[in-house]
Amino acid sequence: MKHIVILGSTGSIGTNTLDIVAKFPDRFKVVGLTAGTKDDVLEEQLRRFKPAAVALADEQAATRLRARCQDTSVRIYSGVEGLRQVAQWPEADLVISAIVGGAGLVPTLAAIRADKPVALANKEPMVMAGQLMQEEARRHGVKIFPVDSEHSAIFQSMEGHRREDIRRLILTASGGPLWELSREQMARVKPEQALRHPNWKMGAKITIDSATLMNKGLEVVEARWLFDVPASQIEVLVHRESIVHSLVEYRDGSVIAQLGTPDMRTPISYAMQYPERLPLDQPSLDLARIGKLTFQEPDHDRFPCLRLGYEALRIGGTMPAALNAANEVAVAAYLQGGIGFLEIAEVIEGTMAAHTPRPITALEDALETDRWAREKADSLVHARAR
Ligand SMILES: NC(=O)c1ccc[n+]([C@@H]2O[C@H](COP(=O)([O-])OP(=O)(O)OC[C@H]3O[C@@H](n4cnc5c(N)ncnc54)[C@H](OP(=O)(O)O)[C@@H]3O)[C@@H](O)[C@H]2O)c1
Repeated sequence: MKHIVILGSTGSIGTNTLDIVAKFPDRFKVVGLTAGTKDDVLEEQLRRFKPAAVALADEQAATRLRARCQDTSVRIYSGVEGLRQVAQWPEADLVISAIVGGAGLVPTLAAIRADKPVALANKEPMVMAGQLMQEEARRHGVKIFPVDSEHSAIFQSMEGHRREDIRRLILTASGGPLWELSREQMARVKPEQALRHPNWKMGAKITIDSATLMNKGLEVVEARWLFDVPASQIEVLVHRESIVHSLVEYRDGSVIAQLGTPDMRTPISYAMQYPERLPLDQPSLDLARIGKLTFQEPDHDRFPCLRLGYEALRIGGTMPAALNAANEVAVAAYLQGGIGFLEIAEVIEGTMAAHTPRPITALEDALETDRWAREKADSLVHARAR
């Protein structure tokens, strides 16, 4: 029986993870859950899965939950400190990191520092402080298993192969809901349209990141640190069907890919029970019915966010953390109607241009940059506010 903590249990990855737990009650026991503000959803989950501890980032939401859960024995924590407590819960054998955004950095790092293996969906901490996270994971002798479908595909395509034989990692990108649009059309895109992803049902922030292709920019940085491969060996290929989840090319010319229908429960369950594959109920991949798979070069002119991701990685140090924070602020502003779709990239670029990067030697370097870049991006958003 594996005891698990889910950071971000009320989100898209979190609920998919609980789906797997519910399917395999003899394999997994939930010992901790966390959320941001949704105390009602967390209450349903804790009554069903009976963890020892839960945490809400929002203090008022935690107060409401405590008042309603006096009939249970669950411990209810709050704030960043509360998230950290649950992330390092003594009985946990595996922590599923599925908070959205930089808010996941402190609890995910706390889990690693408490010697917990991590199944990582929350890519933003890897972007902010990937080198530091990997160094801590090595020091504590724990593994970070990728959950992101592309990184899970690369991880699977590297199994049984020698790292030094790798020529390229090729991350596939669906192109998102706006792939066919011109820049002029994109300028007028409302959030409802940008939130309509063709292949994946995900949280709002990552869906907008898919529409701008910043998601792929973040994934390039994530891949750099997860697999210890330099940016010059990481490429992006647009593949609209989201069937080939990513590929690895080796120096003899062989290319190994992982394929499957787009369903996050496959990579989540692989990370949860690695190396065993759990029997899920997905229909078999019917390639004859699909008929053809298509591949295209990414378009850096229409989608500058991908280029910004590579640029931040090339500059290094605190620059990816600045990029990430600016993106979070810009996406939130876009979703609230404060800026237009094309202005997301402008806010990020403006923030990066104003940032003087320095090396990340400690967690505080990433957190300090995160605070600075949020303020800077906020001021750029306000300068554009409609
Ligand atoms: N969804 C996917 O298919 C997918 C695929 C690959 C990678 N990922 C990555 O996985 C992560 C989660 O994505 P998602 O789509 O599951 O997001 P989501 O549906 O928006 O869920 C986010 C989770 O994080 C919690 N949260 C939000 N802000 C928080 C804060 N400040 N402090 C603590 N907890 C907070 C939310 O709690 P509340 O519900 O209370 O707000 C929720 O539980 C992201 O990094 C994303 O890039 C997702």
